[in-house]
Amino acid sequence: MTEQTQPGVRVLTGPSVARVYNYLDGGVDHYQDDRVLAQKLLEVAPWWPQMVQTDSEYRALAVDFIARDLGVTQFVDLGCGLPPALTGRRRGPRPEPVYEVARRVHDAPRVVYVDNDWMVHAHAKFMLDKYRGTAAIEADIREIDQLLAHPDIACLRGAPIAWLLHDLLPWWDDEAAHRVITTLREWSPPGSAIAITHVTDERIPEAMQELADRYAAAGIHYQPRSLREIADLLDPKAPWELLAPGIVPTSQWGVTRRPVVDGSRGQSYAAVINRAGGAA
Ligand SMILES: C[S@@+](CC[C@H](N)C(=O)[O-])C[C@H]1O[C@@H](n2cnc3c(N)ncnc32)[C@H](O)[C@@H]1O
Repeated sequence: MTEQTQPGVRVLTGPSVARVYNYLDGGVDHYQDDRVLAQKLLEVAPWWPQMVQTDSEYRALAVDFIARDLGVTQFVDLGCGLPPALTGRRRGPRPEPVYEVARRVHDAPRVVYVDNDWMVHAHAKFMLDKYRGTAAIEADIREIDQLLAHPDIACLRGAPIAWLLHDLLPWWDDEAAHRVITTLREWSPPGSAIAITHVTDERIPEAMQELADRYAAAGIHYQPRSLREIADLLDPKAPWELLAPGIVPTSQWGVTRRPVVDGSRGQSYAAVINRAGGAA
């Protein structure tokens, strides 16, 4: 969480979701307030670092699938978060940024990174926005009409677009989440895709409520959802369809392509929906 006191001057006023995740992922881009909140979350959810890692493995699988099998060359990483830790105490392989995964499939993918956290934006500009065909935008995605009018997004509309909403919707209330997904579904050209991950409160509701309470005490809205609520958000009516394997635990998505290590005990779901009519 930050505050802009005067043009060009940013003041840290508390923990930020992106930096808390960076801490949980073994990164080095966090401050005392972030670490304090992260430790409070870990008391309730010691499996959280595993969930962050499982989510980043899914991101690579989903981007590869959408690029290869759906033939999509344009990706918008909504709520991209801090780039993966290059150093620090992260366990497991370094997760690849979206551009690097897409670049393995297509010669010249386009990737736009969007986040409303100025520190994330600074990192995205510095570390990700360096390849031809990439851009970083600092914006509140809930102001979706403004975002779609941004020149770096509006120019994508001539071809299918993959929208990545990985661990983004839990930070919004129902109204914002429904409005953004509905707008993306209506605006996106044929062949487009929407990929999500979303934490669920179905399996350990008391612990999830405790996590939401601890976030709320830090001034951060956090809303895990049930499978039914996640399905309602995606609502893939024609011309959209839910692709196999459906809405499944994130560690199970694309399971044939990787070994399953489900240390988070499956607290999040993943899914990809696709708008019919693409070239692939
Ligand atoms: C939990 S992190 C997920 C990062 C990444 N997508 C991943 O899966 O590893 C959520 C990110 O969404 C960003 N975010 C939350 N609400 C947002 C909004 N309204 N507009 C833009 N970014 C937002 C946060 O700043 C944070 O970087």
